Amino acid sequence: MTTKPPHIGILVGSTREGRFADRPVNWIHGIASKRKDITVEMIDLRHYPLPFFNEAMSPAWAPPKDPIAQRWAAKLATLDGLIVTAAEYNHGYSAVLKNALDYAYKEFARKPIGFVGYGGVGAARAIEQLRLVAIELQMAPVRNAVHIGLVEFLGIWQQGKTFDDYPHLDQAATGLLDDIAWWSRVLKVAREVDASRSASNAA
Ligand SMILES: Cc1cc2nc3c(=O)[nH]c(=O)nc-3n(C[C@H](O)[C@H](O)[C@H](O)COP(=O)(O)O)c2cc1C
Repeated sequence: MTTKPPHIGILVGSTREGRFADRPVNWIHGIASKRKDITVEMIDLRHYPLPFFNEAMSPAWAPPKDPIAQRWAAKLATLDGLIVTAAEYNHGYSAVLKNALDYAYKEFARKPIGFVGYGGVGAARAIEQLRLVAIELQMAPVRNAVHIGLVEFLGIWQQGKTFDDYPHLDQAATGLLDDIAWWSRVLKVAREVDASRSASNAA
């Protein structure tokens, strides 16, 4: 059965010019890449400039025709889980992130997802909504998240502070990564069992 550690995508959930997202994504990537129980890869939605969803059918029923969407789905298929940086826009999550989530389906299924949010209340409202969306994509949203609240957000963005000035964020990152590592390991094995059963039924 499985030998390689689960491979986790760290997705930058904002694409706008001047985004804050680069700070948290680099920070969580730095911490996650030191771990032995997962491997990580940064994935930037700027490299997947998807049109507004315009397919004839949901990707749950038919693969997208758009070539960027096909590339996006192929990348997702290589992952065993996702960590997403979540900006909060008007108490929700970014439209670009929702569009990307709508453009794939089976590539998300039965994999864990966790969040690093930032904003007035650490993007808590956006993350709660993302958890609901993730369930419909058949993902397993994990409990622990990183919430970079207003003080830390402004400190890092405008006052020359760094993540090292806020050790509680490191603790939160460990909780998130422990959850992602556990769920991705367990679900990877379960998906592999399913795949080998399907293969032997087909033979
Ligand atoms: C349209 C818009 C709506 C926003 N609404 C919220 C909000 O509801 N809550 C919040 O904490 N921050 C809000 N903000 C501030 C964002 O948290 C801040 O701009 C952050 O840098 C956005 O992430 P990004 O720079 O990675 O895109 C809003 C920003 C924009 C542009």
